[in-house]
Amino acid sequence: MILIDGKKAAAELRAELKEEVAELKSKHNKVPGLTVILIGDLTPSQIYVRNKEKSANEVGLKSEVIKYPDSVEEKTVLEKIQELNSDETVSGILVQLPLPKHIDKQKVIEAIDPSKDVDGFHPMNVGNLSSGYESSIPCTPLGCYLLIKKIEPNLSGKKAVVVGRSNLNGKPMTQLLLKENCTVTITHSKTKDLKAECLEADIIVAAVGIPELVRGDWVKKDAIVIDVGINKTDNGIVGDVHFGEVSKNAKALTPVPGGVGPMTIACLLKNTIDCFKRSQI
Ligand code: GUN
Repeated sequence: MILIDGKKAAAELRAELKEEVAELKSKHNKVPGLTVILIGDLTPSQIYVRNKEKSANEVGLKSEVIKYPDSVEEKTVLEKIQELNSDETVSGILVQLPLPKHIDKQKVIEAIDPSKDVDGFHPMNVGNLSSGYESSIPCTPLGCYLLIKKIEPNLSGKKAVVVGRSNLNGKPMTQLLLKENCTVTITHSKTKDLKAECLEADIIVAAVGIPELVRGDWVKKDAIVIDVGINKTDNGIVGDVHFGEVSKNAKALTPVPGGVGPMTIACLLKNTIDCFKRSQI
């Protein structure tokens, strides 16, 4: 079994991006900038944002974090986004989710200029991705996609099963696999026989947030299994895949942690650089 080393893949991608940033700096005399808006004091969000900032600095991006208390008014956030939209030194804007209840997530996402939407959540980018046009691609599915391609460069005709239908992961993941000519099945909590669906798959991407849902006898021998889950349990952090069981069947499997997570952040940096490059044309 191949243990897919997301830490190593992310470090390699960051090294490439660092070189690219240096080239862009010498060509344009400026570097791409990433601005993250963090609202409230949820610990996981704070950890993610700190990691994003650290990685952005490591590859040479200009990085800024704007913090607001939980009580911030929606209007304040929307006005800040407008300001960042017209700031030429800002190539990418990310508003860390989840947001406090009194702030309308959709309004915030739609306020971000689509050309600076490094999350790829703006309806314009969602539409462009599903139409096969150039767009920002959500970081987690992009990271999963790059890991899958490392194991199997030619995905044409493969059967892929995506477990989970979220806007963050499941839906964009499906688009990326479709683009590679996979036959894709999207499954979710109402799917009748999830085990039977998974048993058909050459590639499984599990992104539902249910600890160790995908069991060893759900996975065809030689399948590639990507685990997006990060679930806190009494036994520590586990994914959506039962690692011990599935590692006996699968051809390749991502661990949790150390699989998809590091790639998500590296892909955010890639998206920031890509937004910068498109803005320079
Ligand atoms: N919270 C958890 N994952 C993400 C993500 O990919 N983007 C944003 N903006 N917030 C998140």
